[in-house]
Amino acid sequence: MKPADKRAYDKDYANAKKTGKPFFPYAIFKDTIIAGLTVVSIIVLAIVVKVEVGEPVNPATTDFVPRPEWYFYFAFELLKIFANQDVLTPVIMATFMVPNIMIILLVVWPFIDRGPERRIWKRPFAMGLVVIVTGMLCYLTYLGAQTPAGVAKGGLPVSGLDEEATKGMAVYIANGCGSCHMVAGVGAPGPGPDLTNEGAKGWDNAKMVAWLKAPKAPMPSYASLSPADLEALATFVNGLGTKYK
Ligand code: HEC
Repeated sequence: MKPADKRAYDKDYANAKKTGKPFFPYAIFKDTIIAGLTVVSIIVLAIVVKVEVGEPVNPATTDFVPRPEWYFYFAFELLKIFANQDVLTPVIMATFMVPNIMIILLVVWPFIDRGPERRIWKRPFAMGLVVIVTGMLCYLTYLGAQTPAGVAKGGLPVSGLDEEATKGMAVYIANGCGSCHMVAGVGAPGPGPDLTNEGAKGWDNAKMVAWLKAPKAPMPSYASLSPADLEALATFVNGLGTKYK
C-alpha cells in the first residue's frame, strides 16, 4: 500500500471506529435473527410444500444413467471437457483440481489484491474476474442442463433395425451400456467412446462378441450373457451408423 493510501485508510478506520457500531452485540444479533429466520422458513417450507420423493430406488437397475442436481451441472459438464482421456483424469480434474484451484484463488485473493479501493467500478480487474467466472459457471450449467437424459426405456433414436438388431438394442439397454456410451446423443458422454458410428469400423460379429466377453477395463465383461444375446448385441452395435442410423 502506498503511504498516502495507508494514511487515508487509517483515517477511515479511526472514523469508523468512533462512529460505527461494534461487532458485538450488533452484528452478532443481526446475524442470529437472519439465521433464525432462514431455519424457520426451511422448516415451514418442509411442512407446507410437500416435495415429491419420486420412485423407490431400485438397487438392481442397470439402465440408470445418473445425473446430478442442477447446481452440480457445471462440474458434470467439466467431466465432459476432460473426457476421452483415461478414466480417472476427468474425475480428478473436474471434482478436485479445478474446484480446488478456484477455492485456493479465493483464499489467496486478499493477499494478491491489496489495494484499499472498495468501490467496485474502481476495481476493473477483480470485477472482470467475477464476471468471467460467473459467466463461465452459468454457461457450463446451461450446457449440463442440455445433456440428453438417460437411456430411454423405449429404445434409442436409431431406425432401420431388423428383428435381430431390435433384440440387440434391448440387450444394450437392459445391460446399461448407455451408462458409459452414447448412441445418437442418448446415453452417457463417457468414459466409453460414442458408439453412434461404431459400425464404420467394420468389425464382424465374432470380433465384437470377443470384445464384449473380454473388453479392456473399465468396461466390464459381458461373458455371462447368453450366446444368442451376445450375437444380437454384436449385430446391433456393428450396424450402428451404417445399417442402422
Ligand atoms: C463401465 C463403463 C462401460 C460399460 C458399462 C460398457 N462399456 Fe463399452 N467401453 C467402455 C470403455 C471405457 C471403452 C474403451 C476401452 C478402451 O478401448 O480402452 C469401451 C469400449 C467399447 C467398445 C469398443 C469401442 C471402440 O470403438 O473401440 C464397444 C463396441 C463397446 N464398448 C460396447 C459396449 C457395449 C455393447 C456395452 C454393454 C453391453 C458396453 N460397452 C458397456 C466402457 C463401458
